[in-house]
Amino acid sequence: MKRENPSLESRCNTVTLSYTMTRFKVVVLPHRYPSLDIEREIISKAGGLLVDGDALPNEAAALSEAADADVIVVRWTILTAQLIRKFARCRAIVRYGIGYDNVDYDAATAAGIIIAHSPTYGVDEVATHAFALLLACVRNIVGAHQIVAGGGWSDNPSIRQWRMAGRTVGLVGLGNIGSAMARKLSGWKTRLLAVDPYVPPELAAQIGVQLVDLPTLCRESDYISLHPPLLPETHHLISGRELALMKPGVILVNTARGPVVDEAALIESLSNGRVAAAGLDVFEREPLSEDSPLRRHPRVVLSDHAAWYSEDSLAELKRTVAEAAAQAGTGGLPVAIANPEVLHKLGRFEEWTPNYNAQWRARRADSLKAAHHTV
Ligand SMILES: NC(=O)c1ccc[n+]([C@@H]2O[C@H](COP(=O)([O-])OP(=O)(O)OC[C@H]3O[C@@H](n4cnc5c(N)ncnc54)[C@H](O)[C@@H]3O)[C@@H](O)[C@H]2O)c1
Repeated sequence: MKRENPSLESRCNTVTLSYTMTRFKVVVLPHRYPSLDIEREIISKAGGLLVDGDALPNEAAALSEAADADVIVVRWTILTAQLIRKFARCRAIVRYGIGYDNVDYDAATAAGIIIAHSPTYGVDEVATHAFALLLACVRNIVGAHQIVAGGGWSDNPSIRQWRMAGRTVGLVGLGNIGSAMARKLSGWKTRLLAVDPYVPPELAAQIGVQLVDLPTLCRESDYISLHPPLLPETHHLISGRELALMKPGVILVNTARGPVVDEAALIESLSNGRVAAAGLDVFEREPLSEDSPLRRHPRVVLSDHAAWYSEDSLAELKRTVAEAAAQAGTGGLPVAIANPEVLHKLGRFEEWTPNYNAQWRARRADSLKAAHHTV
């Protein structure tokens, strides 16, 4: 099914004067970036009109603008099936970021809407951030800083600190970020384990990683870093049961998505000492509530969902998102399509070149289908 994109002439009768100069309309839902200059330049060069959701009174007004948009760009707004069904002319929803769990995948696919995202813009930043959180926990940098900044000094440190060499690091998710983390860890004399149902063992072995199942990873790892996407099966992937399997004194780092970890169970494990320290960039509810015990916990290192950010990654994110919007708006295919099944529906599958992210999703779709057939 090919979605209609009415000609300029047919739309002139019903749209505003500025819109008559453009070939497609892009609505950027509320985003809180300081400016959309990069996006506007790329989209207007391609003949598009950009409507800035932050310039509208509220999210409802932006969503109502989106009702007749050719392309919708989203940062944090949760695009439910109900909302998606109202996007009458939308060809593509483009997500600012790598993950797209705030967009209803099945509803967009059923509506013939491409979900595009930006799978590589911040891989180095997130892997570096996860590594930085891990090192901050292992060497207790925040605790040491607080002592010295508070005027203290001791020849015999009173805080707990640990070693990297000889330790086992478990990576959950060995995609772009998990494997970048594995590469960063090579040379640190650690043993690397990973859980990833869609990565072949040979590929893991090439980067020095041994694939295991989750209970084994929990039992054998001294330090664990989480890098899976948020999917129904990864919600609370790390719950009380997995925490109970972990070595006493384990260090846990989460830069993936908050709901991958059962936060109440993690807080409990920090309190009873099973988890020695945690480095957290993402939380079950964001922003993290002001009274969350995590904010005050002496053995937790926090950041505010900032792992993705650097000046370089932000510029790359904005450029790649705007290019995807321009490609979709002018009838092309964005480079990074998260729901390639939609291309069958649109009769355009042959035009598409899969990227890594699409490959593991295809393997997951096959295994879900196989599991469905065996029950
Ligand atoms: N904190 C941040 O700022 C930030 C920024 C970017 C991405 N992220 C998060 O990091 C996640 C990973 O990013 P990426 O670029 O590596 O994605 P990716 O798509 O390249 O890799 C995801 C990997 O997870 C694996 N996977 C799927 N199901 C799994 C399961 N049940 N158990 C273990 N592994 C599973 C896949 O096979 C794949 O190898 C994103 O989905 C996003 O949620 C966070």
